[in-house]
Amino acid sequence: MTKDRQLHIGLVLAAMWRKGRDASEDDTPSSLRDAWDLHVGLARMAEQAKLDFVFKPDYLVLHPALVARSPSAVSLDPTMVLASIARSTEMVGLVTTVSTTFNVPYVVARQMQSLHWISNGRAGWNIVTSIEGAENFGNAPMPSPDERYRKAAEFTDVVRRLWQSHPYEVMTEGASYAPINHIGEFFSVKGPLNVAGHPAGPPPLFQAGASDAGRNFAASVADAIFGSIPDMQAGIELRADLRVRAERHGRDPGAVRVLPGLYFFLARTREEAWRLHRQAHAHLTREKRDEALKAVLGLDVSGMPLDARITSDLLPACDQFVRSRTHADLLRRFIENHHPTLDDVLARPEVVGSAHWVSVGTVEDVLGEIVEWFEAGAIDGFIALPGGSFESLQLFLNELVPALVARGLFRRDYQGSTLREHLGIG
Ligand SMILES: Cc1cc2nc3c(=O)[nH]c(=O)nc-3n(C[C@H](O)[C@H](O)[C@H](O)COP(=O)(O)O)c2cc1C
Repeated sequence: MTKDRQLHIGLVLAAMWRKGRDASEDDTPSSLRDAWDLHVGLARMAEQAKLDFVFKPDYLVLHPALVARSPSAVSLDPTMVLASIARSTEMVGLVTTVSTTFNVPYVVARQMQSLHWISNGRAGWNIVTSIEGAENFGNAPMPSPDERYRKAAEFTDVVRRLWQSHPYEVMTEGASYAPINHIGEFFSVKGPLNVAGHPAGPPPLFQAGASDAGRNFAASVADAIFGSIPDMQAGIELRADLRVRAERHGRDPGAVRVLPGLYFFLARTREEAWRLHRQAHAHLTREKRDEALKAVLGLDVSGMPLDARITSDLLPACDQFVRSRTHADLLRRFIENHHPTLDDVLARPEVVGSAHWVSVGTVEDVLGEIVEWFEAGAIDGFIALPGGSFESLQLFLNELVPALVARGLFRRDYQGSTLREHLGIG
C-alpha cells in the first residue's frame, strides 16, 4: 500500500439514525422545513470534519406505508437542497442524485452545471437508472435493466458533450460554442448548452448499481461507484473487477473509486451499539424475520423458541438456492463460530436486511474494520450512513474521523476547494 493513499469519505444527508424511533420523539423534525435545516447543519458538520462530500439519494415515487413508519422518507428535491447548502458551506462537495430513466439530458446538464457554479466547483452527479417510479412518467412498465443502462449511457454521453459545447473560455477568451447535433436511440439534442462550463472542470460522476451492465457503465465514465458491499471479500472482488474494466475502456485502473455505503451504529460500549442496531430494526416482526432467514440461508425456524441454540448441524446444505451467496456465507460463518441463540440470529444484519456494509460497536471496533478493508484493497473510501442515534454520528465525526487522520489515512485539512480536487481527479 503506498503511504499517501488516503480514504475518500462522504456523508449521506438522511436522518437514518431515527429508524425504529417513535415519530413523536424529540429529535424528529416537525416539518420539511426543519428537515432542510437539519441537512444544512449536517453538511456544516461534514465540512468541519473535512469530508470529501455530502450526498443525497433520491427516488421519484412515494410509498405511504414507508412514510408512515419513517417520516424522513419524504424528502425535498436533492439538487435544490444542495444548491441551498452551497450558500452555507465553502468546501464540502455536494453530490446529488438524478435518474437517467426519468429525465432529459439538456435540463440535467444545465442543472448540474448551475449547481457547479453556485457552489464554485463542488457539484457531483450520482447517476441512477432507478428501480421504480415508471408509473409517474408515463412509461410503465419499467423498462428492462439493459434498456435503462443503454439509456443511461446515451444520456450521460449527451450531458458530457453539452458541458463541452459551451466551454468556460467562451466567456474569457472568446472561444466559440459548438452544437452537438446528437441523434440517438433515446434523445435528439442539438445544443449547445445555455450555461458555460466552470473552470474547475466538469462535475465528477458517481454511479450506483453493480450488476454486469452497471459495472461496465461505471468503468466507462464514472469517477466513483456507490456500491452495496456487504462484506470485505465482495469489496475486493468489485474493486479488482472495476480496475480491469476501466483499463479495458482505456482509463486509468484507479479511475473508478469504490465507495460503499457504511451503515454504522457507534456507541461507547458494544452492548449499547448492538441495542441501537436492534432498536432500528424493531419494526420487523418475527414472521418477517423468519421469512428473511429462510430466503438468506434456506433455514426454516418457524415455531422454534427464540432461546433455542442454532448450531452448525442445523445448517442446510451449502448447495441450496439462496438469494445472496455473500449474505448466506457471512451468516453461516457467524453461526459456526458462535452457536448463537435464534434471537441473536434473527437480529443479524444479514437477516434484518441492509445489503450495505454494516458495522456495529465502539469507535475502535468500527475504525479497525475500516482500516482492515482499506488495507485489503476492498475500498477507496465510503459513504457514511449513520444509524442508531445522533450520538453515533457525533462519535463518527468527532472521534472516528480524527483517528483516521492520526493514522495518516484521511486529510487533516482540505488541500483544494473543488470536489475534483478532494477526490484527486486530475
Ligand atoms: C447503493 C445503491 C444506491 C442507489 N441509489 C438510488 C437512488 O438514490 N435512486 C434511484 O432511483 N436508484 C438508486 N439505485 C438503483 C440503481 O440506480 C439501479 O437502478 C439499480 O441498482 C439496478 O442496477 P444494478 O442491477 O446494476 O444494481 C441505487 C442502487 C444502489 C446499489
